[in-house]
Amino acid sequence: MSSLLRRLLYISRIGEEVTDTSLRRIVASAQMNNRRNDISGVLALAPGLFAQVLEGSPDAVGQTLQRIRKDPRHDDLLVVDDTTTEHRFFDRWSMELLVDDISAELTVAVRDGLREGHELVAHLRDQHAKDPVWWPSAMKTLALSA
Ligand SMILES: Cc1cc2nc3c(=O)[nH]c(=O)nc-3n(C[C@H](O)[C@H](O)[C@H](O)COP(=O)(O)O)c2cc1C
Repeated sequence: MSSLLRRLLYISRIGEEVTDTSLRRIVASAQMNNRRNDISGVLALAPGLFAQVLEGSPDAVGQTLQRIRKDPRHDDLLVVDDTTTEHRFFDRWSMELLVDDISAELTVAVRDGLREGHELVAHLRDQHAKDPVWWPSAMKTLALSA
């Protein structure tokens, strides 16, 4: 019998001082910590917003979320989906940065209450199935324009 996992999605506002260099640092340290804590997930970007899925044991996800909440590189963190599950959606990613137009549009719509968090999770899961790793030069513009 597999033990139950927690999968949550939050959206937060990107801090004004975040650049593509600090984004790379965030992702690199998230990958290192998450491998250690057996957490998987994805960090998506929308104009001025982060959307992040974390999945793993309930304890590990809870402790990681507590650390992330205190991080000054973003604020206004809002958990928009939080479920218990037996299966990971992002098992090949300890953390990956994802930049695509639909993720960005959905993130804004979920933040504005126009779409449900689980719809964004489903879209991100589809992206995971394609296994992209993107560092486009447009990323900085996308990340920093509010
Ligand atoms: C948008 C964002 C996403 C983050 N994602 C993770 C993550 O998935 N895992 C993680 O351990 N830390 C993540 N961090 C970093 C944590 O906030 C924190 O800096 C890190 O866990 C180290 O914490 P410590 O210095 O208290 O050990 C993220 C930070 C930000 C701003």
